[in-house]
Parts: sequence; C-alpha cells; structure tokens
Amino acid sequence: MIILIGGEKGGVGKTTLAVNLAAMRNRVGHDVLLIDADKQASANLWASIRQEERRDTPVPCLQKRGTGLAADIRDLATRYEDVVIDAGGQDSVELRAAMTIAELALFPIQPSLFDAATLETLAELVAQAQAFNTELVAAVVINRASTHPRVKEAEEAKELIAEYRDLHLLDVVIRDRIIFRKAARNGLCVLEFQNHDPAAETELHALYREVFGDG
Ligand SMILES: Nc1ncnc2c1ncn2[C@@H]1O[C@H](COP(=O)(O)OP(=O)(O)OP(=O)(O)O)[C@@H](O)[C@H]1O
Ligand SMILES: [Mg+2]
Repeated sequence: MIILIGGEKGGVGKTTLAVNLAAMRNRVGHDVLLIDADKQASANLWASIRQEERRDTPVPCLQKRGTGLAADIRDLATRYEDVVIDAGGQDSVELRAAMTIAELALFPIQPSLFDAATLETLAELVAQAQAFNTELVAAVVINRASTHPRVKEAEEAKELIAEYRDLHLLDVVIRDRIIFRKAARNGLCVLEFQNHDPAAETELHALYREVFGDG
C-alpha cells in the first residue's frame, strides 16, 4: 500500500505520524519503506538516528525529490509491501506527484492551527489528484489536539471537516503528548520509548487500524 502523509501546513505532525506508522508496520513484520520527499529531510534524520539505536529493526528510508518521484515510487512499491511517504509541508511538486500514485493521502490537521481555508485547499488538491488517480482515498486526521477536557477544538474541527465529502475524517483523535516528541528525537516510535504512555499508544494503534486495517 502506498500511503502519503502530506498537507499544505507546516508543523502539523506529518513526519511524526509517518515515522510512527512506518515503524509500527515494520515491528509487525511488514516490509515497509519510508520515503522522505521533504527538503527538510526530518524523516530521513529520524531513520538515521534509528539505524544507530535499533540496529535490529531499522526502517529503510530513501530521499526522493522532484517530478520523477511518482515513477520512482511506483517502481519501489513493487519491491516493498508498504511505502510511507512524508511529502513535506507545502503544496509542492512532491506532494502533487505523490498524490498521483498514493492509495491513501493522509492529512494531519492541528485543531489550534487550522481553518476552513486549509480544508478548501486540501479538497481542491484531492479533486485534482483524483482526476488522474481514481483510486485515491483522502483522509484527515486530527493531531495534537489538547488533552484538556474543557478544550473543545477537536470537536469543532470535526464538525467543519464533516462538511467536505471527499475528505474522509478518521475516527481517532491524536492528542498533544510529550512522548511523540521524545520518541521521535530518539529514532523510535512511541511504542518503543522506555517510559510508556498508554494513552498515546492507544491512539496510535487506532490510527494504525484505520490506515492498514487489522493486518
Ligand atoms: N501528537 C503530538 N503530540 C506532541 N507533539 C507532537 C505531536 N505530533 C507532532 N508533534 C511535534 O510537533 C512538531 C511538529 O511535528 P512534525 O515535525 O511531525 O510536523 P510536520 O508536519 O512534519 O512539520 P514540517 O511541515 O515542518 O515538516 C514536532 O516537534 C513534533 O515532535
Ligand atoms: Mg515534516
């Protein structure tokens, strides 16, 4: 399966979710390739830290940029069970190219940062990509929602997203939890970090199931 994690906003958790999904997939024995298509190369940095920290379970990562990305990934996808692409934070050549070959485009959205214009742009991008890629499913996942019970931003975001028929909203809401930052800094996924955070793990398992199914 080719999964793209993208969007046109920076800092919403694309790399964080891409590396966690790739590492979780890898942990249960699937042959997964992470593609870093972002010039910041943070997924690649994570993978290289991981190479040192987890010599037994490295996650292969390739950096790919430019218009040749789609053809390269299509070829790589024949050699891996899953390809997870971190496409970076703007409307880029890489994002558009990846959307022509992905089966799932996952757009993380941060409730405190997002607005209707963000959704408008995403919906347009998806419509354009679906003209070429009829298999493409586009989904939005709420990330970094407040853990404070009185903050209702995630619920408000859900209501707005529900208005966009072509943007499927994932049920899981991922909340702002320090372990996401700590694990990523160490080349790990949240499940591997020494101090476990069961709430974060539950959220990631739910995300994993929505993305990959139960397999
Ligand atoms: N659920 C979360 N809880 C806490 N921190 C998070 C969470 N998701 C992401 N972060 C943190 O937010 C920051 C931005 O996340 P990340 O780098 O994954 O975003 P991005 O969308 O890839 O950014 P960019 O557009 O710069 O590539 C990082 O410091 C990351 O550790
Ligand atoms: Mg990133």
